[in-house]
Amino acid sequence: MPKQHLADRAPRPFVKWAGGKRRLIPAMSEYFPREFGRYFEPFLGGGAVLFYTLLLDPGRRCLVSDLNADLILAYTVVRDRVDELIESLRGHAAGYAEDRSGYYYRVRGEEPSDPVSVCSRLVFLNRTCFNGLYRVNRRGKFNVPMGRYANPNIVNEEGLRAASRLLGSGNVRISSGDFADALAGAGEGDFVYLDPPYQPVSATASFTQYTGGDFVAADLERLASEYARLDGAGCRVVLSNSDTEPVRRLFGGWNVAKLTANRLINSDSSGRSGHHELLIRNF
Ligand SMILES: C[S@@+](CC[C@H](N)C(=O)[O-])C[C@H]1O[C@@H](n2cnc3c(N)ncnc32)[C@H](O)[C@@H]1O
Repeated sequence: MPKQHLADRAPRPFVKWAGGKRRLIPAMSEYFPREFGRYFEPFLGGGAVLFYTLLLDPGRRCLVSDLNADLILAYTVVRDRVDELIESLRGHAAGYAEDRSGYYYRVRGEEPSDPVSVCSRLVFLNRTCFNGLYRVNRRGKFNVPMGRYANPNIVNEEGLRAASRLLGSGNVRISSGDFADALAGAGEGDFVYLDPPYQPVSATASFTQYTGGDFVAADLERLASEYARLDGAGCRVVLSNSDTEPVRRLFGGWNVAKLTANRLINSDSSGRSGHHELLIRNF
C-alpha cells in the first residue's frame, strides 16, 4: 500500500478541474515553505492546494481568487449556504435518476442567476459531463456533452460540508479577477502559489480554455514580470507549469525542479522538454 500523505485527509475539491493538483501535492509540498505569513493563490481552480494549506493550519490568512466568476461564486456558496446547496443538488440527483439525458441537457441549457442554483448547476454538470471537466467555449457557454457514469456522486454531502468548514474558518478571502490585481497586496514573508493555465506542449494540446479567454503568451510574460516583482517584495513564490520553451525562457533563471512520475528531481535545461511538470521557486 502506498504511504498515506497528509494531503489525503484534505477534502476533495468539490469540482474536478483541468490541471487539478491533488495528486501532485505529496511531491510538491516538499518544496513549499514551512514558515510563512499569508497564503495567496490567484489561479484557484479546484483549490486542492488551498484545502491542503487549510488542513495544515485552519487559521491561516488566505487570499484566493480566479478569473472564472462562476467558480468563485460557487466557493462562496459552499462556504455560506451549504445546506441550500445540498438540497438543490438532491433535486438534480432526483431529476437525473428519472431521465438522465433529458435532464442533463435541460440543465445545461439553463442560465440561472441565483447563486445557489449557479453553484449547484456547476457541480451537477461537473459530476455528470463527459470527462468530468468544466469547460466553456469562447462565448462563455458550457458545451460539454453528457458523460457515461454508472453512478455519479452528485450529492457529496460529507465532502461539501468539510470544504465549507475549512473555507468558513473566517480567514479566507475569496474574490474573482485577474491574477495581477489579486497579488497587489502580497508582501514580505507571504507565500504565493501560482498555477496558471499551462502553456500547451503541442499545437493541438490546449489546456488553456477555462474561462472562455485564453492564457496567451502575453499573459505568461505579464506573469514573469509579476513573479520578479513578488520576489523583490520579499514573497516566497512557487509556480507550476509545463516544461516548454517559453516557460524555460521566462523562468529559467529561478530554481527549477522537474516533476517526473509524481516525483520532483532537480532539473537542468538540457533535458527532454514537453511532458514534464516544472516547479519554479525563488527560494
Ligand atoms: C491550472 S488551473 C488551476 C488548477 C488548480 N491549481 C487546481 O488544483 O485545481 C488555472 C486556473 O486559472 C484561471 N485563470 C485563467 N486566466 C486567469 C487570469 N488571467 N487570472 C486569474 N486566473 C486565471 C482559470 O480559470 C483556471 O481556473
